[in-house]
Amino acid sequence: MKISIVGTGYMGLATGVGFASKKNHVICMDIDKKRLDKIEGGKSPVYETGLQDLLERVVEKKNLEVSSDLDYAVKNSDVSFICVPTPSKRNGSSDLKFIDKVSRNLGSSLAKKDSYHVVVVKSTVPPRTTEKLVIPNLEEFSGKKAGENFGVCMNPEFLREGSALDDFLNPDRIVIGELDKRSGDVLVELYANFNAPIIRTGLKVAEMIKYASNAFLASKISFANEIGNVCKSLGIDVYEVMMGVGLDHRISPHFLRAGVGFGGSCFSKDLKALVNKSKTIGYDPVYLEEALNLNERQPVRIVNLLRKRVGTLRGRNICILGLAFKPNTDDVRDASSIRVVKELLKFGAKIKAHDPKSMDNFKELFPGLLYCKTAREALRDSDACLVLTEWEDFKNLEDKDFSVMKNRIIIEGRKALNPNKVKDFEGVCW
Ligand code: UGA
Repeated sequence: MKISIVGTGYMGLATGVGFASKKNHVICMDIDKKRLDKIEGGKSPVYETGLQDLLERVVEKKNLEVSSDLDYAVKNSDVSFICVPTPSKRNGSSDLKFIDKVSRNLGSSLAKKDSYHVVVVKSTVPPRTTEKLVIPNLEEFSGKKAGENFGVCMNPEFLREGSALDDFLNPDRIVIGELDKRSGDVLVELYANFNAPIIRTGLKVAEMIKYASNAFLASKISFANEIGNVCKSLGIDVYEVMMGVGLDHRISPHFLRAGVGFGGSCFSKDLKALVNKSKTIGYDPVYLEEALNLNERQPVRIVNLLRKRVGTLRGRNICILGLAFKPNTDDVRDASSIRVVKELLKFGAKIKAHDPKSMDNFKELFPGLLYCKTAREALRDSDACLVLTEWEDFKNLEDKDFSVMKNRIIIEGRKALNPNKVKDFEGVCW
């Protein structure tokens, strides 16, 4: 099938490369020409496991091309996926300005095309956005009727950063929200060679499935953190507890790792958008709000533990190991490390930090910290160390690496250190 992808962020690009590897022809469209040049040259502009290799292959085989011309992309494809960002506004609601613009532009491109075309919303959008914003824009700017001259679907993504390509190629399920059967049939055909159950629903159900999934995963982590906070006071290791809890098949062991809280560009943003949406319809979503609040408090907890151990933080050298919101990414968006650093700076601490991939990105937010090339360099002469991302490198650290510290106080936010290699450290929830 011929596909166009509008927006080549980590999700759009993984989707495009993934479809291209399944013998479709893909046109990646973006307004950022530099990004497109890179993709055209077979170079991935984002770091994603496996993406670079597969991108090179599909470009070489001419299964993937790029264009900054939306008319060209629409004319030369049967389906267009909207993969643009939906960031948070100040009040937590979803900022739909990119969705608005792209759906208008797609409408204009559809006006110039005679044959049937399906527009698919893949971006995470609040329930009813496709119905209330995307379809009206497409109809107004194309002068055509949705469900007659063109089709519309909402096909949410469940891709984790760092394993986006693998998640795309091996999904647990494929959700196809469809305006009508004809639109949905096109996507069912496109996904025919995937080994996953397909769920066909209405547009707003598909939109809600994405929000409910992220809200559940985020609250599962907050739940683990809450139990962890109680465990800590009782001298219990929450990881041992969750091992026992997670073996219940109704619960599953995933997303029960307690620590300094969840970060990233999705969970907080989507929870806030769902909270905001609920309030606009007169419902007070206390459970969702508390999952968010608890997450805001977790990074403060690790600093409070540190203050108990160190006393005053003023002028103290604190080493931070791990800045990325999770391992195998250079992304620091909404990372727990940001909240921890703000809190440490508030108390006058001096910070030395190390992260294998994300120091350049973190530097843009906090240019005044001392960034170190190695964990050992960051640990040298420090009064205490906080571990905030479970990078594989940190799992290999040994007692001798910590021997360069001035005072040996180590507090773990992620269960990254190996207790067989490092002695005497405490965890935020264990
Ligand atoms: C998340 C979802 O997992 C994806 O399904 C979804 O498609 C994506 O958001 C999105 O909406 O686009 P992502 O944010 O990339 O993916 O990363 P996750 O692996 O879910 O981790 C999010 C955060 O939760 C990280 O900070 C991680 O350290 C933290 N986490 C995760 C925990 O603290 N404990 C856990 O047990 C699991």
